[in-house]
Amino acid sequence: MKLAVLGSGKIVQEFLPIIKDLPGIQVKAILGTKRSQEKTEKLQGEYGIDESYTDIDECLQSDAFDTVYVAVPNHLHYGFAKKALEAGKHVICEKPFTLKHAELLDLEQLALKNDLILVEAITNQYLTNYQGIKEASKKIGKLKIIECNYSQYSSRYDAFKEGTILPAFNPKMGGGALMDINIYNIHLVVGLLGKPQRVQYFANIEREIDTSGMLILDYGEVKVVCIGAKDSEATIRSTIQGTEGSVIVNGPTNMLESYSTQTLAGEIKTFDHKDHPHRMYDEFKLFTQVIENKDMTFVKKQLEHSKIVMEIVEAAINDAGIVLG
Ligand SMILES: NC(=O)c1ccc[n+]([C@@H]2O[C@H](COP(=O)([O-])OP(=O)(O)OC[C@H]3O[C@@H](n4cnc5c(N)ncnc54)[C@H](OP(=O)(O)O)[C@@H]3O)[C@@H](O)[C@H]2O)c1
Repeated sequence: MKLAVLGSGKIVQEFLPIIKDLPGIQVKAILGTKRSQEKTEKLQGEYGIDESYTDIDECLQSDAFDTVYVAVPNHLHYGFAKKALEAGKHVICEKPFTLKHAELLDLEQLALKNDLILVEAITNQYLTNYQGIKEASKKIGKLKIIECNYSQYSSRYDAFKEGTILPAFNPKMGGGALMDINIYNIHLVVGLLGKPQRVQYFANIEREIDTSGMLILDYGEVKVVCIGAKDSEATIRSTIQGTEGSVIVNGPTNMLESYSTQTLAGEIKTFDHKDHPHRMYDEFKLFTQVIENKDMTFVKKQLEHSKIVMEIVEAAINDAGIVLG
């Protein structure tokens, strides 16, 4: 895969160091803004990237790469992904895929029409521990309750309270606890149970954005609560409860550090099947193969998953009366 990285922020700086372990990926271009051109060019030099841009349209004219990794703030995902597909590039897009369900449908239509790969970079779906969690969940009897809690006090929350609104808290940029952090819980649950029957979101709103909230997903016989908070903290953990035992996901739902099974008698066993210490390794390794093999079956299957997540997100955002974008 010949890749252009769109963005030069936090996640890109985490991603570039693992490229050395992914021989199927060659990073050919990087895009940043004019205001942070120096930072982008520093990354370009450090990682031996041929091309550097500050304008998306100019970047997409290059034929040095076949795929883009969209890693800009949330509100730009749709526009950048659309332009890339129109330029004939495959797209790997950071979470949340888009701000609106209809935008994802539009991207899907464009990708399928042009036989291009379009996938969401959502770490938990591709981690080996997730396969283990799925298998373990089938062995605890009838599922009843799932509780995911990803609460992490954000250093950006202090700035936010003082009136400096960084992208992660900016409604215009698609920020908020649901989009930024709780979305990993949603992906974890949708990967297990699919589409819920009902969605409700009880959010703590400050300056028109959710700084924390509880999302209720009703699956009929299974009830789910997904908690995401950036204004307070708790032990980050998820539990999947069945009539014959439970599965405990240790740590954040974007990392799935390890998981434990617990029987009704209280016997606990802990597992960890990581292939690589970095959470982004598995997804990019797989995406490389998907692009190489033009695996549209995989793309369609994963888009079904992402569309359910976007439907939930949209229902939740509307339920809480939040306006994004
Ligand atoms: N941080 C994480 O741990 C993490 C994890 C998973 C997913 N993500 C997702 O990754 C995306 C980026 O997050 P981040 O934390 O890396 O954000 P970030 O640190 O704010 O980085 C965003 C990058 O996009 C650049 N950018 C903004 N507008 C642009 C434009 N018009 N053209 C070109 N570049 C532009 C920014 O440039 P400036 O520096 O000049 O603003 C910056 O380099 C988000 O969608 C987020 O949900 C983040």
